[in-house]
Amino acid sequence: MFIITFLLKTIEKRIMKFDSVSLSCPICNEKLEKENKTLHCSNGHSFDLAKEGYVNLLLSNQKKSKNPGDNKLMSASRREFLNSGAYFPLVERIAQLINEKYKDNVSPLAVVDAGCGEGYYMDSINKLVKNTTNFIGFDMSRDAIKLAAKKYKEIDFFVASINNVPLLSSSTDCIISIFSPINEKEFARILNDNGILITVTPNKQHLSGLANIIYDKAKEHDSKIGNLEGENFDLEKNDILTFTLNLDNNTDIMNLFRMTPYYYSSSKEKSEKVNELTTLETTIDFEINIFRKK
Ligand SMILES: C[S@@+](CC[C@H](N)C(=O)[O-])C[C@H]1O[C@@H](n2cnc3c(N)ncnc32)[C@H](O)[C@@H]1O
Ligand SMILES: [Zn+2]
Repeated sequence: MFIITFLLKTIEKRIMKFDSVSLSCPICNEKLEKENKTLHCSNGHSFDLAKEGYVNLLLSNQKKSKNPGDNKLMSASRREFLNSGAYFPLVERIAQLINEKYKDNVSPLAVVDAGCGEGYYMDSINKLVKNTTNFIGFDMSRDAIKLAAKKYKEIDFFVASINNVPLLSSSTDCIISIFSPINEKEFARILNDNGILITVTPNKQHLSGLANIIYDKAKEHDSKIGNLEGENFDLEKNDILTFTLNLDNNTDIMNLFRMTPYYYSSSKEKSEKVNELTTLETTIDFEINIFRKK
């Protein structure tokens, strides 16, 4: 009985894939409709769902390299590290912000994670948000989206760039961007009139414990407050989330190291130093901003 229920649920989720998402054709911008396992527009362009359940909407002329975005190692390290629960306080804070913001909202929300990586945040925020919500995630990295779609069946994932987001104009209530690049114009276009953009960026002391091992004179991160204020957005709320993270094994430390740009910018000598660590105490310092579309 359990197996039958499980199979039915899995099939149902597969059938539901992309049913309530306002996707647009990356070639001609017309609405994409789903028919079986294919998305197609009225001009005859079509895009097949991959076996993992995601769809690739990144055109080859929108790529600067064969495999743009985070590579397999970065995505897999991020998955392992995030699944340890180390950044769960950030999940709780974002869910709390969404719950506060939409407490009186009765219609379903469309929330998009732009540059969602391997999907951890979408899935864990989804579990804490009270509103009926349609969560969608996209990223330029096919490796990351494959990992995301394989594990998190309740979320719709697609491969796309923030510079050409294949979503209809005014189709989105809330965009979340966690440590990912931002395209203000595109984000403003897909947001509806009351839409908000939640950004998470490193605040001054973020990962200072790791940076102090890697650099002789580690620089503080610049605050991003107000960076997006101007033509498209007003700042609605600025929030800081700071805590101390104690890692007590080399696996977690290496996963953290590999998911940061430090892994690629460190000297061989400093990398070896991190490689030998069995404990690490570091400050985690997130800046969370909510921007309202103008
Ligand atoms: C630092 S990671 C953060 C991933 C995820 N938000 C998280 O915190 O786990 C940045 C992500 O942005 C993606 N990315 C980089 N450039 C992009 C672009 N132009 N369009 C969409 N995603 C992009 C990368 O592939 C990567 O997954
Ligand atoms: Zn088309």
